[in-house]
Formats: sequence, C-alpha cells, structure tokens
Amino acid sequence: MRSQITPAGTTDLHQVLADHHRYWGERDLRSLHLLALVQEFGETCLVARAEDGIHGYIIGFVTPAGTGYVHLIATRDDARGTGLGRRLYRAFADAAHRQGALRLKAITSLGNTGSIAFHRRLGFDAEIVDDYNGPGKAMVVFQCVLPLDAAQP
Ligand SMILES: CC(C)(COP(=O)(O)OP(=O)(O)OC[C@H]1O[C@@H](n2cnc3c(N)ncnc32)[C@H](O)[C@@H]1OP(=O)(O)O)[C@@H](O)C(=O)NCCC(=O)NCCS
Repeated sequence: MRSQITPAGTTDLHQVLADHHRYWGERDLRSLHLLALVQEFGETCLVARAEDGIHGYIIGFVTPAGTGYVHLIATRDDARGTGLGRRLYRAFADAAHRQGALRLKAITSLGNTGSIAFHRRLGFDAEIVDDYNGPGKAMVVFQCVLPLDAAQP
C-alpha cells in the first residue's frame, strides 16, 4: 500500500501521538510534537497517508539563513525499510528549496545509530558537536547541501 505525502494538519499530529510508540518505540518524544510547528510551517510539515493511517511524517521549517531544519522524522514500525524515510526527505527538500533553502540540517542523540546510518545513506555529513544541547550534552549534527543526491534509489 503506497502512501501519499501531503501537508500535515493538527489532527494528524494528534493521530501520531495516539500511536507514538509505533513511530518511536520506548523513547518518549511526545513533548517535541509541537502543534505550533504544524500551524506555522504548514508547507514543510508532511505526512505519508494510506488507507490504514499515517505511515510516516517529517516536521521542519526553513530558517531565515536558508537552512531546511528537520525537527522530527519517523516512519511507522510496519513501513520501515521501504524507502519511505527517503521519500519524506525528498518531499521536504523540495518544499524547503521552494522557500529558498540551500542546505538541510537535522540532529540526533549519539545513541541513535539507526538515524545516523539513515542520514549518512541519504548523503548527510554527520558530526558530533559537543555541548550542542547544553553543557556536556553532545549531539550528532547532520548537514547536506541541496539538492539531495538524486542518483540514489
Ligand atoms: C530512521 C527512520 C526514519 C528511517 O526510515 P525508513 O523508512 O526505514 O528509511 P528508508 O527505507 O527510506 O531507508 C533509506 C536508506 O537508509 C537505510 N537505513 C534506514 N534505516 C536504517 C538503519 N536503522 N540502519 C541502517 N540503515 C538504515 C536504508 O537501508 C536505506 O538504504 P538503501 O537506499 O541502501 O536501501 C526510521 O527507522 C524511524 O522512524 N526510526 C525511529 C524514529 C527516529 O529515530 N527518527 C530519526 C530521529 S533523528
């Protein structure tokens, strides 16, 4: 069942939160799902919809300096490994580019090896930045220049 990628609404965010564990497992990231982002950055908050619900989503925005910042990306447990994460990133990159973005950026925790492998596969550089999240709190920072590598599958 191929999903359609469309702009996200606040109802979508409520739906995702109701099924939070299917996107994030044991990690509790509910507080990062800010409705204000969907309200204010509608073109760069996207969901992949299918008949059986939301298969994945990407939430982000474009900064005034031209960075398309991805705040959250997740695919549902039964939709992983199908290329959906890549499709969501491509749709986000297109939307961000339309708003003048020149590059993409995202962050993750040092232990999120799946996210690090995924972003590297999409062509991002990954760098550990000390104190990114406050004193003693390093994060992995992903960056890539647009366009995303179209040669990849
Ligand atoms: C990370 C995540 C979004 C990837 O989504 P996905 O739909 O499985 O990714 P895709 O199928 O589009 O994979 C794209 C490429 O990345 C690779 N990849 C994806 N997840 C990977 C993993 N955990 N380990 C190694 N490689 C991975 C795929 O093999 C694929 O490579 P290929 O082109 O050689 O086949 C998904 O695993 C997820 O939702 N994880 C939980 C939430 C999370 O941690 N989000 C990231 C927070 S920064």
